[in-house]
Amino acid sequence: MADVNRCWVLVRRPQGRDFADALELTEGSIPALADGEVLVRNALLSLDAGTRMWMNPREDSYSPPTPLGSPVIGMVLGTVVASRHPDFREGDLARAYGQWSDYSVCQPDVAYAQRLSWRMDDLRQYLAVFGPNGWTAYLGVLEYTQAKPGDTFVVSAASGVTGALAGQIAKLHGCRVVGITGSRAKCSWVVDELGFDAAIDYSTQDVPEALAAACPDGIDVYFDNVGGEILDACMGNMALFGRIGICGLIVNYENDELVPGPYKFDQMLMKRLTMVGFFSPDFYHRGPDVDRRMRPWYDAGQLKMAFDVTEGLEHTLDAYAKLFTSAKVGKSLVQLQELHP
Ligand SMILES: NC(=O)c1ccc[n+]([C@@H]2O[C@H](COP(=O)([O-])OP(=O)(O)OC[C@H]3O[C@@H](n4cnc5c(N)ncnc54)[C@H](OP(=O)(O)O)[C@@H]3O)[C@@H](O)[C@H]2O)c1
Repeated sequence: MADVNRCWVLVRRPQGRDFADALELTEGSIPALADGEVLVRNALLSLDAGTRMWMNPREDSYSPPTPLGSPVIGMVLGTVVASRHPDFREGDLARAYGQWSDYSVCQPDVAYAQRLSWRMDDLRQYLAVFGPNGWTAYLGVLEYTQAKPGDTFVVSAASGVTGALAGQIAKLHGCRVVGITGSRAKCSWVVDELGFDAAIDYSTQDVPEALAAACPDGIDVYFDNVGGEILDACMGNMALFGRIGICGLIVNYENDELVPGPYKFDQMLMKRLTMVGFFSPDFYHRGPDVDRRMRPWYDAGQLKMAFDVTEGLEHTLDAYAKLFTSAKVGKSLVQLQELHP
């Protein structure tokens, strides 16, 4: 075991995506454990857009702001190297809320942590199909927005991990699926590789017009990952009694201030719409059950995922900025170690 722990610490509130000015890579000793804690040697860091929100000072988010001087928190996958918790042993594979660092101190009784089986064809899927993004996609489609066979289903950030899975799940459920994403190449990926029926490139197309053309009978379900103008474009194209699932609002995450909109909110009344927000920690406990339900699709090759993997903790900030610049496809990970039992 190396005796140095490098760790990304938030030292200033970032402006936009100026992460280099706001985060510092510190070096320290490997933390000693208190009772109830587990030390995980991080192999993969999950890069999640929501982490950007916790870097803001806003107090009305679903998580309190990360205090300045604290490690950046995120989901990690790695090997337990020491444990003072009765449910975790050295050598276990664990997924947990940890830190953007070489080693994570995890507190299973306080924050999410779970032992996992080593028996998985691609262990990265514990941070994609069989992890919080997969559960959010599955429950967002089938429970929160109540998608039904025959519905016209639209999803934004369609080439990101949650959007790609939500679209595939809706398609498997019998919906007609339209993705919105940021380039022609990504549109081709969701249509040709993932089986979506159509895709709209918001970087070059007029989104309201393209939606009207792609959804002539209106949108029954809009699975929103971005908010802003795309949410408005969808609100203006909803079908009567349509449902809008608010999964994420990535266009707002870089703002410290409240962002006005949606401007087409009157469509809630005109079209008798339902809007629902959902947040994965509320249903982490259902993860194993959702995994079992998705497993046959995955085994049959019907749930596909691409990975954007960056090697090395020192390159985390460049990898993270790509979430906000339309510069990657699929699930973003930072790899620190090879994972094996
Ligand atoms: N509610 C929950 O529990 C939950 C769980 C997981 C994720 N989320 C949310 O779901 C959303 C997607 O997260 P993810 O992890 O699936 O995605 P991701 O893989 O991190 O990708 C994010 C994608 O968002 C798109 N994007 C970024 N900035 C944009 C902008 N200004 N306008 C339009 N699109 C933009 C980019 O794709 P393009 O190429 O399309 O631009 C990018 O690839 C985020 O808002 C995230 O916070 C919520």
